[in-house]
Amino acid sequence: MATSPFRYFISLFLLLLCFEACFRVGDTKVGCIERETQALLHFKKVVLDDHGVLSSWGNGEDKKDCCKWRGVECNNQTGHVIRLDLHHQYLGGKISQLGPSLAELQHLKHLNLSWNHFKGILPTQLGNLSNLQSLDLGSNYGHMSCENLDWLSHLPSLTHLDLSGVNLSKAIHWPQAINKMPSLTELYLHYTELPPIIPTISISHINSSTSLVVLDLSSNSLTSSIYPWLFNFSSSLVHLDLSWNDLNGSIPDAFGNMTTLAYLDLFWNELRGSIPDAFGNMTSLAYLDLSWNQLEGEIPKSLRDLCNLQELLLSRNNLTGLKEKDYLACPNNTLEVLDISYNQLKGSFPDLSGFSQLRELFLEFNQLNGTLPESIGQLAQLQVLSIPSNSLRGTVSANHLFGLSNLSVLDLSFNSLIFNISLEQVPQFRASRIMLASCKLGPRFPNWIQTQKGLLDLDISASGIADVIPNWFWNLTSDLQLLNISNNHISGTLPNLQATPLVLDMSSNCLEGSIPQSVFNAGWLTTQMLGAMGRFNCS
Ligand SMILES: *[C@@H]1O[C@H](CO)[C@@H](O)[C@H](O)[C@H]1NC(C)=O
Ligand SMILES: *[C@@H]1O[C@H](CO)[C@@H](O)[C@H](O)[C@H]1NC(C)=O
Ligand SMILES: *[C@@H]1O[C@H](CO)[C@@H](O)[C@H](O)[C@H]1NC(C)=O
Ligand SMILES: *[C@@H]1O[C@H](CO)[C@@H](O)[C@H](O)[C@H]1NC(C)=O
Ligand SMILES: *[C@@H]1O[C@H](CO)[C@@H](O)[C@H](O)[C@H]1NC(C)=O
Ligand SMILES: *[C@@H]1O[C@H](CO)[C@@H](O)[C@H](O)[C@H]1NC(C)=O
Ligand SMILES: *[C@@H]1O[C@H](CO)[C@@H](O)[C@H](O)[C@H]1NC(C)=O
Ligand SMILES: *[C@@H]1O[C@H](CO)[C@@H](O)[C@H](O)[C@H]1NC(C)=O
Ligand SMILES: *[C@@H]1O[C@H](CO)[C@@H](O)[C@H](O)[C@H]1NC(C)=O
Ligand SMILES: *[C@@H]1O[C@H](CO)[C@@H](O)[C@H](O)[C@H]1NC(C)=O
Ligand SMILES: *[C@@H]1O[C@H](CO)[C@@H](O)[C@H](O)[C@H]1NC(C)=O
Ligand SMILES: *[C@@H]1O[C@H](CO)[C@@H](O)[C@H](O)[C@H]1NC(C)=O
Repeated sequence: MATSPFRYFISLFLLLLCFEACFRVGDTKVGCIERETQALLHFKKVVLDDHGVLSSWGNGEDKKDCCKWRGVECNNQTGHVIRLDLHHQYLGGKISQLGPSLAELQHLKHLNLSWNHFKGILPTQLGNLSNLQSLDLGSNYGHMSCENLDWLSHLPSLTHLDLSGVNLSKAIHWPQAINKMPSLTELYLHYTELPPIIPTISISHINSSTSLVVLDLSSNSLTSSIYPWLFNFSSSLVHLDLSWNDLNGSIPDAFGNMTTLAYLDLFWNELRGSIPDAFGNMTSLAYLDLSWNQLEGEIPKSLRDLCNLQELLLSRNNLTGLKEKDYLACPNNTLEVLDISYNQLKGSFPDLSGFSQLRELFLEFNQLNGTLPESIGQLAQLQVLSIPSNSLRGTVSANHLFGLSNLSVLDLSFNSLIFNISLEQVPQFRASRIMLASCKLGPRFPNWIQTQKGLLDLDISASGIADVIPNWFWNLTSDLQLLNISNNHISGTLPNLQATPLVLDMSSNCLEGSIPQSVFNAGWLTTQMLGAMGRFNCS
């Protein structure tokens, strides 16, 4: 019976399949392409490698296959180098000299040379790597530069670009270059001396083909001329970092259009004016940092709509009020960190009892008056309570604080608070830092401090203590870094302390005895300590 042509074709097809498969079974690795091996060897030749990181890169018999070299990854079907990852390998040398070698690696998809010491001008051959999906040259601080970014337009597949630390001060057309990158989703240009956008007609009408998700332009000198370009990415951005720039004027309402934004950092700019109501529209926000600006007025009610907010950082502005009741509107309160320190907050202490997840509260250096509400004791997650230098008065009882079992930092200094704690009441927390300068704790020595076995810093200066220092107290001091008990009427005899805190002030008390040897060992503090021994306040 004649073999049908159909069968013949099937057999040939199977034979070819087998040939392919069998070939690979016999030798699973295809191995490095000779041209690319030579390119990598040239790379090794021009790079400075003081630590011998590239010692596996060689042309000896056992080092032949470049796909096995450190940091090199090949496509296992074609043998082409597709990844070169040499981040943080102590490599240096002129980046421009790597251009010819890199240009040979036409199939490269990922290039990571971050955290090294490369310097010089970025080679334009980078634009030949048309298959690149990620390019990371970041954090080779202060040594590399690039005068224009036009070559980026030859990298249509690039999704991830990090040039942080590259001097781009001459690359004035950077916004146009970025706009022409259709796949880019993550862009990191931290500390690149990025020039401000020149507000010309041409830029404002260039529509971006890009859908940036992550944009880090921190530590540059960008001004508010960035906005028209920036707001073209309103619908895609999730992470936006514009901290350490020169943004000035009021914050535009258009931020309200960034409804997918989860992270917004505007720390350290020159924004004036008030926080716009429109911020309430950024309902995905989990992190908002507006610290170190010149914002004023009341914190808008609309922030209550930020039901996913975990950290709200507003320190170092001129904000005057917090409409606390309104914050309770959001049922699933997610806020964990609230920092409104160094502002002009006036009036009574806010009712934060709805913030059940709050871990850190910073309200120091404001003008809050009235009493500390007992409801603070309901914030079961609280680790940091920092409210020094306000005008709070009234009593602090065990109900306020002693149930806060997670408390680690307690700072109520420089208010007019009076502690009303009986001898047998003990806190549930073990703090590392207790700062109660000028609170009224005395006249008896505060017994509850005895339970604070993990203390590093303790300041109970000027707290009205007129008592003999208890023996247990010296047991607490062995791990202290800071101890200030000055300006009280504390009496008793100094024991021979084995260790002395780095910062020690016992001045203006009635302590007796000889100065422990350990104080002299502490060096620079000795003179202050000697003064501290005097019998000053002993009426
Ligand atoms: C080849 O690469 C693919 C994709 O990375 C991987 O799934 C596969 O296991 C590799 N094959 C061999 C033989 O290494
Ligand atoms: C790199 O690109 C330039 C311009 O696109 C081209 O002239 C040059 O031949 C390319 N070099 C290599 C090695 O492909
Ligand atoms: C490059 O390596 C660093 C350090 O591991 C890493 O953080 C970064 O994400 C890498 N870059 C890319 C584009 O993968
Ligand atoms: C960045 O480049 C500009 C122009 O070449 C130069 O004036 C400036 O000093 C450079 N910055 C640093 C930090 O080297
Ligand atoms: C980009 O911004 C310009 C100027 O604000 C605007 O005219 C244009 O419509 C925006 N493009 C897109 C795609 O939003
Ligand atoms: C940008 O988009 C706007 C509105 O969609 C359009 O009118 C304008 O022609 C576009 N500009 C460019 C340069 O494509
Ligand atoms: C928000 O986006 C919409 C639609 O793109 C636009 O009409 C509106 O002007 C934007 N709002 C602001 C304040 O820019
Ligand atoms: C905020 O959202 C409200 C209601 O959806 C809308 O009326 C307002 O224009 C938005 N504001 C901004 C600046 O997008
Ligand atoms: C903020 O307040 C301080 C102190 O009251 C004042 O010196 C400063 O001028 C204020 N700044 C602004 C922008 O209002
Ligand atoms: C909080 O509530 C809002 C709306 O009430 C919801 O969209 C959001 O996903 C909730 N977030 C969390 C973390 O539960
Ligand atoms: C608290 O401060 C506000 C505004 O500064 C003032 O009107 C009020 O009288 C003060 N209250 C007390 C109890 O001092
Ligand atoms: C202080 O510590 C020593 C040694 O651990 C212990 O013997 C002594 O009882 C302690 N004193 C007080 C008052 O707790």
